Amino acid sequence: MNTITLIEKLWQDTVLAKEEYVYLIRNCSMEDRELLAARANEVRQSYYGKDVYVRGLIEFTNYCRNNCYYCGIRAENKNADRYRLSAEEILECVEEGYTLGFRTFVLQGGEDFSYSTEDIGSLIAEIKKRHNDCAVTLSLGERERDVYQYWYDCGADRYLLRHETASKEHYEKLHPQNLSFGHRIKCLYNLKEIGYQTGAGFMVGSPFQTAEHLAADLLFLKELQPHMAGIGPFIAQKDSPFAGYVDGTLEQTLLMLSLVRLTLPRVLLPSTTALGTIHPQGRELGILAGANVVMPNLSPVSVREKYQLYDNKICTGEESAQCRQCLDKRMESIGYHIVTARGDFANVSR
Ligand code: SAM
Ligand code: FES
Repeated sequence: MNTITLIEKLWQDTVLAKEEYVYLIRNCSMEDRELLAARANEVRQSYYGKDVYVRGLIEFTNYCRNNCYYCGIRAENKNADRYRLSAEEILECVEEGYTLGFRTFVLQGGEDFSYSTEDIGSLIAEIKKRHNDCAVTLSLGERERDVYQYWYDCGADRYLLRHETASKEHYEKLHPQNLSFGHRIKCLYNLKEIGYQTGAGFMVGSPFQTAEHLAADLLFLKELQPHMAGIGPFIAQKDSPFAGYVDGTLEQTLLMLSLVRLTLPRVLLPSTTALGTIHPQGRELGILAGANVVMPNLSPVSVREKYQLYDNKICTGEESAQCRQCLDKRMESIGYHIVTARGDFANVSR
């Protein structure tokens, strides 16, 4: 096998065999990475030009019933300073975001059942009533199919649920026994069937991850055909069971972003805050490796510090307007520009 031949093959065919992905992940030189990023960028520009879509992230609760080993807001973390935003506070974030040019709002939180299915439904309906030119994305974890259907019927457009790893054996090393790999995957298929623009994804460099696991992630994405893929580095959190584990690297995350872009040419691919956390230019480099979305925070500054999934998270002290301006400048500095648009999957909207 030869890395350059494999990169060209992936560019042409948009898929490789598992052992070919493994070979690329293990053997890419610096020059190979540059070639991969250039190819990925070419593909991205053929669908999305130099536009960067922006999503306003509202982290509205850091309560969670789960205990994922990597996560800083897991239920058993007694040091997490818990908060919940009221519907009014969430709507204030939306209004501010709308004024700043956001046309997608991502409601994200731990699995917090103190908001009822109907509470979330009313919130979705209210946002859509006020701004029918906007998309509402949910990222609220695993629920039963009828709940996903109800929220879709209330007007939700998209749902983000990273699969975390496509290997059951690896999944079980990242999560306690009560969390089921099968259920998470089932949720993703349910979301797609209902009609959501669906996002899967995984952390790069999570504990115990191998090149085979990453290759399985790429093949899983190819099979699922999600509209969005969330790919960011694992970053250790000091109060979690994975405190002290090594963080995912910039190089490996950029490599995976490029491989995802070539495997799913039209996918909506964020350059994540976690990538910006491990390197000062991480988000710009992510865009240059094939990403086409950024997700700045719209949560009130008073709670930002508290949504600590991992250590040293950036942008916790900035007002929303400052974050927006900062990202505008960062994207302009590499010749890209943030657009005021819903930013649907290659112009599909419901
Ligand atoms: N509760 C929802 C769920 O389970 O999908 C959404 C919130 S969850 C905190 C969002 C994502 O954060 C997870 O899918 C995970 O990939 C990421 N995450 C959690 N801990 C992390 C860490 N230590 N480093 C990097 N990403 C992390
Ligand atoms: Fe639930 Fe992290 S353990 S959001």
